[in-house]
Amino acid sequence: MSDPLFSVEDQVVLVSGASRGIGKAIARGFAARSARVVITGRDPAALQQTAQELEISAGDTKPTVVPLPCDVANERQTDELTEQVLSRFGRIDTLINCAGVNRRKPAEQFTEEDYDFVMDVNLKGAFRLSQKIGKAMIRQRSGCQINISSLNNDRPLKNVVPYAMSKSAMGQMTRALAMEWGPHGIRVNALAPGFILTDLTRRLWSDETMEEWGRSNTPLGRLGQSEDLIGTALFLASPAAAFLTGQILYVDGGFTAGWAWPIPE
Ligand code: NAI
Repeated sequence: MSDPLFSVEDQVVLVSGASRGIGKAIARGFAARSARVVITGRDPAALQQTAQELEISAGDTKPTVVPLPCDVANERQTDELTEQVLSRFGRIDTLINCAGVNRRKPAEQFTEEDYDFVMDVNLKGAFRLSQKIGKAMIRQRSGCQINISSLNNDRPLKNVVPYAMSKSAMGQMTRALAMEWGPHGIRVNALAPGFILTDLTRRLWSDETMEEWGRSNTPLGRLGQSEDLIGTALFLASPAAAFLTGQILYVDGGFTAGWAWPIPE
């Protein structure tokens, strides 16, 4: 039996960057609870396959999962995406800005192309979607936006300067939009994942020294899985979070809670 306090049933939910990783897991979480989910990404074939997988994995609930290709770094495509979602469903209840990229190198070696690549997707692309979908949410006088930030919002990791900049700016975007759009009935929050094993990070964490450092500095004693983000995303989109806006929730196993110093037991 579903609890209405935590229900996302019948919501129209748009998830960017949902062909794999965290976005795909979150989309699966919503689809399995009878939300109508639009998944976006750049590659139409990958998206189609993900949609089929999500429909099969939800089993008897027969979910609505609609794949609509869109590169969030392309303004025309985000316009088309917004129009397509609205003409199909007439409304949009929850936007999840999950599309993200990273490049790692020492600060002095980043080129302008590197910088633009990361910023255009992680920050400008997210703002663009927030704004376009926000206009529809203002008209309908309700909505929820969830931005997938990072623990880099709190403390930057070495060798990812543009990424860290994009994610902390996303945190500020979250608070600023919450301030402006609260009076329109729109809630804007962010999830800041810790170290999650996905295609974006798997090679990094296959290094033994890295894995040991990540695990021993995470109070819950493990690296995260994409599925670890589902519950908090559902909570933020549900009536249970009706009075919660402008917040950044760290889903990081406690990594940012304090310092794991090597004091003898
Ligand atoms: P991933 O690389 O597995 O998935 C990223 C998704 O974004 C893919 O579906 C990709 O196609 C899509 N994407 C990339 N550029 C796009 C564009 N221009 N337009 C539309 N879609 C695009 O990465 P992962 O790990 O699932 O990351 C998802 C989000 O979570 C990202 O925003 C990332 O920064 C964030 N994050 C991930 C963490 C981790 O440890 N994996 C930690 C903190 C934040």
